[in-house]
Amino acid sequence: MNVKIEKINERLQELVATSQSGSIKDAVLYSLLAPGKRLRPLLFLTLLESYGLASDDYLDIACAIEMIHTYSLIHDDLPGMDNDSLRRGRPTCHIQFDEASAILAGDALLNLSISTLLTCDMDALLKVEVATRLFESSGINGMIFGQQQDIYFENKQANLEELNTIHLNKTGALISVCLEMAALIADPKQALSMRKIGYDLGLAFQIQDDILDVIGDQDLLGKVVGSDETNQKSTYVTLLGLEESQKKVNELFNQCVEDTKKLLRHPDTLLELFDKILKRVS
Ligand code: IPE
Ligand code: IPE
Ligand code: MG
Ligand code: MG
Ligand code: MG
Repeated sequence: MNVKIEKINERLQELVATSQSGSIKDAVLYSLLAPGKRLRPLLFLTLLESYGLASDDYLDIACAIEMIHTYSLIHDDLPGMDNDSLRRGRPTCHIQFDEASAILAGDALLNLSISTLLTCDMDALLKVEVATRLFESSGINGMIFGQQQDIYFENKQANLEELNTIHLNKTGALISVCLEMAALIADPKQALSMRKIGYDLGLAFQIQDDILDVIGDQDLLGKVVGSDETNQKSTYVTLLGLEESQKKVNELFNQCVEDTKKLLRHPDTLLELFDKILKRVS
């Protein structure tokens, strides 16, 4: 397994280890340590390394990102949202435990991400800046807004502008802030440009997710194929069809590559990660 992923998983386990024993801790560990791709922390750590920094020094921030992402998945799967039964190849948290445990496990992960960030070893002012951007992006003006819009547009077709608003918020904001935070730490002048690349990447990622929900292999994806149709979601596929959606994914990736090459002196490892994402089947 990728060394960075191993380090992220080990540290996640350590960060939860001191929590009060019981069913919420069990539910947190169940969802957090399930085999996710760890894409968001990888983007953050890989960009730090591209800037020449030691990514091990920022592992706790990477873990805080993954905690937020995992909480969003646990809540996204709840009956009041997407009502899904499979996640990361396992029964979803509320199926394995119960709804109350899944709600509380998500809440616990959000709190844990905050305490992990606040206690990490880093210049205090920079920490405030990084934390502010992370929680803005995952909050009511970012991921949470996108999740609300996603639900609002069930059973009605969003137009392209509305769909971009959904996707850029529910998925783009958290992916974008991973690159932005790395730039804030390593080269703040590039933070806004990295944010823009991250939004393009995040939009591409969610369009791919829409495509995989139709043509993906459930065993590889580890989640139920056809969930969007069941929920009558507004997706890129329902609006533009598979072919146009894939074209848009390719265009966005090319844009990300071009922009990254202009910004970074050593873009290769980040571009390799982009390429892996472009070719993903899970
Ligand atoms: C799933 O994210 C949710 C979306 C934003 C589409 P990932 O595809 O990164 O899920 P994991 O973390 O690998 O399980
Ligand atoms: C989820 O989008 C986005 C967030 C969890 C914020 P989806 O609902 O499409 O993600 P999957 O397909 O369930 O992973
Ligand atoms: Mg959803
Ligand atoms: Mg979902
Ligand atoms: Mg989906």
